[in-house]
Amino acid sequence: MTIVVLNGSPKGNAGVTMQYMHYVRLKFKNTAIEVIPVADRIQSIEKNEKAFDEIIDKVRQADGIFWIFPLYHLLVHSGYKRFIELIFERKAGFAFRDKYAASFSTSIKFSDHTAHNYIEAICNDLIMHFVGSFSAQMDDFFFPAERKRLELFFGDFLQAIADKRPTVVRFPPLKTATRIYTRGKNKEKISAMGKRITVIVDGYEPDSNLGKMIDHFLDCFTEKPALVSLSEIKIAGGCKGCVKCGFDNICVFDGADDFRPFFEENVTKADIVIIAGEMKDRYLSWQWKRFFDRSFFKTHQPNFFGKQLGFLVSGPLSQEANLRQILEFYPDFSQANLAGIVTDEPEDSADIDSAIAVMADKAVRYAESGYFKPSTFPGISGRMNFRDSMYVDLKLIFQADYNYYKKHGWFDFPQKKIGMRILNAVLWPLLQIPFIRKDFRNNRMSKGMTMRYQQVLKAMAK
Ligand SMILES: Cc1cc2nc3c(=O)[nH]c(=O)nc-3n(C[C@H](O)[C@H](O)[C@H](O)COP(=O)(O)O)c2cc1C
Repeated sequence: MTIVVLNGSPKGNAGVTMQYMHYVRLKFKNTAIEVIPVADRIQSIEKNEKAFDEIIDKVRQADGIFWIFPLYHLLVHSGYKRFIELIFERKAGFAFRDKYAASFSTSIKFSDHTAHNYIEAICNDLIMHFVGSFSAQMDDFFFPAERKRLELFFGDFLQAIADKRPTVVRFPPLKTATRIYTRGKNKEKISAMGKRITVIVDGYEPDSNLGKMIDHFLDCFTEKPALVSLSEIKIAGGCKGCVKCGFDNICVFDGADDFRPFFEENVTKADIVIIAGEMKDRYLSWQWKRFFDRSFFKTHQPNFFGKQLGFLVSGPLSQEANLRQILEFYPDFSQANLAGIVTDEPEDSADIDSAIAVMADKAVRYAESGYFKPSTFPGISGRMNFRDSMYVDLKLIFQADYNYYKKHGWFDFPQKKIGMRILNAVLWPLLQIPFIRKDFRNNRMSKGMTMRYQQVLKAMAK
């Protein structure tokens, strides 16, 4: 049996992800496992069609494809994303069709599920038999039980291939309607009220639906906001994953390209940021992915903190819940606010016009009033994940994050609540006494839960 492993780490063989693969190889000596580095040499794969064709040929001959990757900004690295786009652009899907597939990642488990959903959806689009996904925390490697778990997973993958086990499609094909959006006239222009607004697009094409949506948004204001395009700035390459930015947030590309000044001018200084892009497969373009990866020069500090964030998306987003989850995660996690997500899906162009106008109005009003929607589970748990990681495990490497979290009170461990801990220490033994326990449970618990709220409301009513 031959397994082709497509490696999505920008560090190639030197990455953490590959160390797990070395372990798998040790455990499955009788299986031919060929690892093909993809993300770290994407530029040459893209330029040199022969190199791309060679990979596709190996895929065609394999019995199973193992997609391995490190998590990069809730997804895969931009180089891996580009490789996936090339499969579709160069019509190489035939090589993957009907093959068995599984995915494996290493990460700190920060939105790892969205990356695995993405790869599974891509496998579904390529009409592969997707067997399952395995997400390892970077350090799981050092625990025998976790290594065993991976061994079982990989063994099961091989077994599924041998048995020709039936698989189910979790992500049905996206239905793309080529509807033309025709802009109407803006009924009433609004003032930006001195707020700095930037619309960022990966490539502006005035005649495309996205171009017209952008124009309509810009036209909502009496003072035209800035429109900037990723295609017009010098970006030397994708994130290398070197984490040299960890100490002082200085990126190895600083001075070599324009990414950092672009980001600081158009994101950091803005009050309202609108991200505009067309869906490419199950995400936006690889250029957008590279933008998010490169924004890692600010490591684990929230890039959109305190901003109003909006999205203009061309494509079937309502069918792609995973991407929607990713877009919603950014403001949720960053303590920013989602001003809206507008797509070109509505049949009636007037509905798109009004959705854009509503987003423009909301973004300015919320920026002015300081309204931020409270975080939900993904945002809260994401921050806790980072908080815990920066406190001990990653502190030495990500010193800038440690200092930022300390300064901003992000090390808000519940065990620091001394008053609550004293109360717990006193009440715990008391509540073990049967008659107090019974009385508390039957007569005081429900009332007690709202007592403090009522005290505050009474004080307010006076
Ligand atoms: C730019 C960048 C973005 C990352 N994004 C995520 C992420 O969204 N979620 C996560 O859990 N880990 C994230 N990580 C951590 C990596 O996934 C993790 O360190 C992985 O083990 C690296 O594997 P590699 O050495 O094979 O490249 C990120 C790391 C970098 C450098």
